[in-house]
Amino acid sequence: IVGYVGPRDASEFLIEGLRRLEYRGYDSAGIGTITPQQQIAVTKSVGRIESLDQEMAKSPTPGSIGIGHTRWATHGPATQVNAHPHTDPNSAVAIVHNGVIENYCKIKEQLQEKGHEFQSATDSEVIAHLIAETLAQAREEFNGAEVDIPEMLRLVVSRAIAQLQGTYGLVVLFRDYPDVMVAARLGSPLVVGVGHDEYFVASDASPLAGFANKIVYLADHQVAVLSADSLHVTHREHGRIKPSVEPLQIDSHQAELNGFPHYMLKEIFEQPEALENALRGRLSDEDATAVFGGLNLSPQELRRINRILLTACGTSWHASLFGEYVIEDLARLPVDVEYASELRYRNPPVDHGTLLFAITQSGETADTLAALKEMKRKGHPTLAICNVVGSTIAQEANGGIYLHAGPEIGVASTKAYTSQCIALTMLALYFGRLHHLSYAAGRRIIDALRALPDQVREALETNDRVRQIAAKYCHFDNFLYLGRQYNFPTALEGALKLKEISYIHAEGYPAAEMKHGPIALVDKHTPSVFIMPQGFVYDKVMANLE
Ligand code: F6R
Repeated sequence: IVGYVGPRDASEFLIEGLRRLEYRGYDSAGIGTITPQQQIAVTKSVGRIESLDQEMAKSPTPGSIGIGHTRWATHGPATQVNAHPHTDPNSAVAIVHNGVIENYCKIKEQLQEKGHEFQSATDSEVIAHLIAETLAQAREEFNGAEVDIPEMLRLVVSRAIAQLQGTYGLVVLFRDYPDVMVAARLGSPLVVGVGHDEYFVASDASPLAGFANKIVYLADHQVAVLSADSLHVTHREHGRIKPSVEPLQIDSHQAELNGFPHYMLKEIFEQPEALENALRGRLSDEDATAVFGGLNLSPQELRRINRILLTACGTSWHASLFGEYVIEDLARLPVDVEYASELRYRNPPVDHGTLLFAITQSGETADTLAALKEMKRKGHPTLAICNVVGSTIAQEANGGIYLHAGPEIGVASTKAYTSQCIALTMLALYFGRLHHLSYAAGRRIIDALRALPDQVREALETNDRVRQIAAKYCHFDNFLYLGRQYNFPTALEGALKLKEISYIHAEGYPAAEMKHGPIALVDKHTPSVFIMPQGFVYDKVMANLE
């Protein structure tokens, strides 16, 4: 989602903003503005932002207030009609929506009974119709009375969203009120960028770099009413609130490719710097431990922790598995690792004295957030290891550790994964030093951590060799990734990267598990990738390889 109100031609920011959000993945895109003739103009296209740009040459969207969206088809295929923005039949209201409206069928039926005709197969279109309907009612109610327009529009959107079940990040334009835009969120992120006499809206901070220098993170149940010179935020229960305006911490330079052909490669090469940033200021030679500013728990409280529960999804789950090995090894504390999507609906017995860590790059993953909330509700201390400052999970947790890896724009998580692993190692060091780990062992770990960024630089020098190996093996359809101990999670993560980036089937296994069945898959058509650095299981993995 992107949105703009101010003196500029809105489409200029909207297109650039959508480009910056391309990394989220999408199959269609669209832009809507209110034209100087006070009409809602909408242009949409299937496919890339470039085709939307070409479409806009034929069907321009002038105006200084507008919204834009990239869609991943959920309800209805990727077609121009299903792309956002959606409007009501009279084009009085236009909306862009992220999230899922669970009761859209029921609302649609009710509106159809009132004569509404729907164009798309989406759940989102009902929101535009519902708001238009609520607006018409409000106008009747206020008939003749003097109304504060922004307040009326806030009320209209609040009444409409009160009928929705599900999640939304939503931005609304009103044809007849061309100076005002309304944004609302529940379970799907939205931020407001603050400029000089202009405001921006986006579903994450990356489109704002270079446009706004301050940011407001909207929270669930908040509604923001924006015009070029004002921002009012209300909360469903607390009424009008003072938004907390923070400096924007990414610059446009970070969102550029800097000569790399794509973001994933750029971010792989940013790992040494990302690791240095994660380590910065967090190692104490004097106490041979790690130092964290934001855990918000005293050493006494942390010492009373007797179990750690790590929860996450995808790559962050693999980092958590690595965390289990390293924390148990260094701190001798039992660790459980749970998929957040399972934990949120499971009801495992969790001991008192259990500390929950949610591991997440984006800080917005719905399952991870829900699992964290469930554990928080049960009274457990909840912390986050997160990359995106101010994200929903970072705000929801009692405290945590920021990775400081910089924006991760490539779809595949890379530098965030290694940064998560280093943050978990520092955490293991910290807990280790609260318990049994000696001063000397702590110092050895600190030295090893400090050496790591340069070792990664050296590893990245193998880039050309890796490319040659990739060229040799890229024609195979199935791969196995195998490793033991600390490199079992690496094997899982390697297989995930191959699957999601190359669309090639791959499985990760603990290397010794091969002989218990999967070895049946090994033949000349199935290359196996072994992760086997020197170390105490090297010989064992070599035996598996043979
Ligand atoms: C894979 C990948 C995903 C994410 C997962 C969780 O490369 O990026 O598996 O790791 O969707 O996302 P976060 O870490 O943002 O909670």
